Amino acid sequence: MDLGLDGNVALVTASSSGLGKASAKALAREGVHVVINGRDEQRLADAAEEIRAVASGDVIAQSGDLTDPEDVETLVARPVEEFGRLDHLVTSAGGPTPMRPLEPDDDEWYEAFDLLTMSVVRVVREAAEHLRSGDGGSIVAIASIAAKRADGGNVLSSSVRTSVVGLEKVLSKDLGPDVRANAVLPGVHETPRLQDVFEAAVERGEYDSYEEAKAARVASIPVEQIGDPDAFGDAVTFLCSDRAGQINGAAVPIDGGESDSIF
Ligand SMILES: NC(=O)c1ccc[n+]([C@@H]2O[C@H](COP(=O)([O-])OP(=O)(O)OC[C@H]3O[C@@H](n4cnc5c(N)ncnc54)[C@H](OP(=O)(O)O)[C@@H]3O)[C@@H](O)[C@H]2O)c1
Repeated sequence: MDLGLDGNVALVTASSSGLGKASAKALAREGVHVVINGRDEQRLADAAEEIRAVASGDVIAQSGDLTDPEDVETLVARPVEEFGRLDHLVTSAGGPTPMRPLEPDDDEWYEAFDLLTMSVVRVVREAAEHLRSGDGGSIVAIASIAAKRADGGNVLSSSVRTSVVGLEKVLSKDLGPDVRANAVLPGVHETPRLQDVFEAAVERGEYDSYEEAKAARVASIPVEQIGDPDAFGDAVTFLCSDRAGQINGAAVPIDGGESDSIF
C-alpha cells in the first residue's frame, strides 16, 4: 500500500525512546522528514542516528522539555524553519509514576496533568495553524489503554489520559476538514518504560521478580504477546496517512485485545 507520505513533514514529541521513537522511525521509512525530541541530548542524538539509518527523508533532533512552554514554542518552530511546513504531529510523553488510587499528593496529580495533558495542549496550540495550512494534516496522540481500563496500580494514567482522548475528540471536530485528530491507546509494548512499570510492580510486592510480572501480563493478553514498538509505529504512520482519511476522532486500542472495554 502506498501511504502517499513521501516528502511530508512530521514532528514527533518525546521520541528519543520507545513508542515515540518507533513512530518517528516508521514515518521516516515512508520518506517523511521528521523532527524528533527529548530532554537528554545524547539519547536524542543516538535516536536520530538510529532513525537516519532507515530514513529516506531528513531527521532533525530538537531537544526540549514538553513541560516548558518556551521549549515547546522552539520545538514546533523547528520543522517550519527547516522545511517550511508541518503536516503531521505525533505526541508522546514520559509516563506517570505508577501509584495506587490514594497515593499521589496534589503536586503529583498536577505534575501528571502537566506532562500528559498540558504537553499535548501546548504543542497543538503552536502547531495547529501550520497543520491547517497544508494539504491534509493529522494529529496522533499516543495515550494509553489505561484510559479505557481502571488501572488500580496506575491511577494517574487511568485518570489523566482520558483528558487527552477527550481533547483529540474535540480537536477532530474543531480542526476538520483540514486536520484529522486521533488518539492511540497502547497496551504493553517492549520499551524502557515497560521495564520501569514491571520493576515498580515488583517493588510494591505484587510480584517476586521482573520475569513473573512480565509473564503475568502476557497471560492477560489474548494474543499472548507484548507489543512490538515497530508494529505500533506502523499503525501510527497509517493513521497519519490519507489512507486513514475516514478515521477521525477515534481512540484506537493497540493492546492485543487486553482491555475488557467494548467501546
Ligand atoms: N511502553 C508501553 O508499554 C506503554 C503502554 C501504555 C502507555 N505508554 C505510554 O506511552 C508513552 C511513551 O512510553 P514509552 O514506552 O515510549 O516510554 P520511554 O521509552 O520511556 O520513552 C519516553 C520518551 O519521552 C521522553 N520524555 C520524557 N519526558 C519528557 C519531557 N518532559 N519532555 C520531552 N521528552 C520527554 C524521553 O526522553 P528524555 O527522558 O530524554 O526526555 C523518551 O524519549 C508514555 O506516556 C507511556 O506511559 C507506554
